[in-house]
Amino acid sequence: MTTFWSAWICVLTIGSLIGLTWLLVGTRKGETKGSVDQTMGHSFDGIEEYDNPLPQWWFMLFAGTLVFAIGYLVLYPGLGNWKGILPGYEDGWTGVHEWEKEMDKADARFGPIFAKFAAMPVEEVAKDPQALKMGGRLFASNCSVCHGSDAKGAFGFPNLADSEWRWGGNADTIKTTIMGGRMAAMPAWGEILGEAGVKNVAAYVRHELAGLPLPADSTADLLAGQQAFSTTCVACHGANGQGTEAMGAPNLTHPAGFIYGASLAQLQQTIRHGRQGHMPAQSELLGNDKVQLLAAYVYSLSQGVSTERLQAESKSE
Ligand code: HEC
Ligand code: HEC
Repeated sequence: MTTFWSAWICVLTIGSLIGLTWLLVGTRKGETKGSVDQTMGHSFDGIEEYDNPLPQWWFMLFAGTLVFAIGYLVLYPGLGNWKGILPGYEDGWTGVHEWEKEMDKADARFGPIFAKFAAMPVEEVAKDPQALKMGGRLFASNCSVCHGSDAKGAFGFPNLADSEWRWGGNADTIKTTIMGGRMAAMPAWGEILGEAGVKNVAAYVRHELAGLPLPADSTADLLAGQQAFSTTCVACHGANGQGTEAMGAPNLTHPAGFIYGASLAQLQQTIRHGRQGHMPAQSELLGNDKVQLLAAYVYSLSQGVSTERLQAESKSE
């Protein structure tokens, strides 16, 4: 607060207190014992108002609030830049110090545990029940919005509990994914291939790569689809559609891992308009030690540790 506004507040506050004291004392009527000496001269339908002194209790109560206000303004922040004489309000009224104290306490308690796990390889951390429990809680509060509380994903968000990986499923790669985030870039092919081209290549992906049936009345030209695939798609998805983890280009022979659907309409949509899945980076938000636990947790899910069991365990605590 600038000095001007600080002074402004002081003048207003102290001025009001003085004004109120004057009003209280200055207009107080002398207490001539028991005498109701005169009326105020008002008369409403014959009802007159007596000029009585304030009741003692009322006067004392008001005086008490003035004393309280002065005491408060001396002890606590309130008068402009004055911080009060009690310790702990150096930044004025704020919960920052309480919050910092809580965080320090949490660090003192969990710091050594985090440090222990951070020094271990992720695979090893994934075998520790305590680490998995902590990782599971971190997952529930930071990741489940997108990947689901059971980590099984949703449309546009990959299942992390299976063995299908877009960017790679070994423990260190999972950690890299979580730390740095991932930005997938599947280009739009609608304009380049044309509508018929999109339909042909979608049918090719569905039938020849993913091994799923086509409708009986399909008119798609699978051979043309294959040709389009081998010229336009192999660079990222590989000669056999097996995918390239370095680019996050998914394996098109495993429809169980598709996140945008495997129906013809969904495949055409993906190919026509492209897709840009974005996994947000967590390094700044959560830091290495927490991501270590998350990576271990996610890794454990694909190693046959069922999410149901972990959830049941963390609930039964
Ligand atoms: C520049 C690299 C690149 C090229 C070329 C490319 N893709 Fe992709 N494709 C990707 C990436 C990366 C993804 C993942 C997008 C995401 O996760 O948001 C993807 C996703 C897909 C998917 C969605 C899979 C799912 O999870 O639902 C299909 C289907 C697909 N591509 C088909 C094709 C076809 C057909 C072609 C050729 C016409 C092609 N792609 C060309 C990089 C590419
Ligand atoms: C805002 C939504 C969002 C949040 C929050 C989020 N993710 Fe993701 N995540 C995604 C998307 C989208 C992808 C897929 C990116 C792509 O298309 O390749 C992804 C991909 C991943 C992958 C790679 C999967 C693979 O097949 O290679 C991992 C691992 C992952 N997320 C873990 C996490 C963890 C752990 C958290 C919590 C710290 C988290 N994510 C939070 C959206 C999210």
